[in-house]
Amino acid sequence: MNALDRRTLVPEILDRLAADDPRALHSRRDLARINALMFQAPIMTSLMRKFIAKAPGRILEIGAGDGTFMLKVARRMARDWHEVELTMLDRVGLVTPKLSADFAALGWTVETITADVFDWAEMANGRPFDAITVNLFLHHFDDSGLLRLFSLLRRKAPLLVATEPLRTGFALAAARLLPAIGVNDVTRHDAVESVRAGFRGSELSDLWSAAGGRPLEEQRAGPFSHAFVGEARISAEGA
Ligand SMILES: C[S@@+](CC[C@H](N)C(=O)[O-])C[C@H]1O[C@@H](n2cnc3c(N)ncnc32)[C@H](O)[C@@H]1O
Repeated sequence: MNALDRRTLVPEILDRLAADDPRALHSRRDLARINALMFQAPIMTSLMRKFIAKAPGRILEIGAGDGTFMLKVARRMARDWHEVELTMLDRVGLVTPKLSADFAALGWTVETITADVFDWAEMANGRPFDAITVNLFLHHFDDSGLLRLFSLLRRKAPLLVATEPLRTGFALAAARLLPAIGVNDVTRHDAVESVRAGFRGSELSDLWSAAGGRPLEEQRAGPFSHAFVGEARISAEGA
């Protein structure tokens, strides 16, 4: 049996560091470069264009980090999608006024929520969103955590769009080469572990179905990424 046949989860170092820890700050800058190397923004953009028929009013980005990933996506979408209300949720509050201004220049308004996603999803009973997006986030959770998360999220929006690490030997080898571009020890560890915790095949579809949703697409995207789109029904209790 191959070590990558199954997902393995090891806690990521970045998740345990204070937001202003210099190692965390360095690692978040690394993350922006890794997103670029993985083509995550173009992959997310093409999924959103394909599956969101008309310009959404409200998008929720979960595990949004410092928001720079979503800004790249917004810049690609803004010509067609105006006046989007974007809510960015993360356990750590990192979105700066400058970043919100960059979104505002595109016509997008930003609200931030600093909370654990499970706590928020259990409690929140606001207006539903048109879509939920996640990038390099779902792989943080084991399958039972994902089942719980999906059960909660499908009450919040009719669509989940995810771009995650692909779990392959090639992606693992590439992650091990990242020190060549100057990433720090945190990123070196977390990138390798993210691949081991990443996805392949129909793993996310199976969990989404088990949570009562309808998978629309799940496939490898580019050399290092795994894309998933699921449709949900918004239940009365979440609306
Ligand atoms: C690998 S980073 C990706 C950040 C961003 N999506 C990007 O691509 O730059 C994962 C993010 O998920 C956040 N996170 C991890 N567990 C979380 C949780 N239970 N609730 C909310 N945010 C969480 C972390 O704080 C971190 O910002």
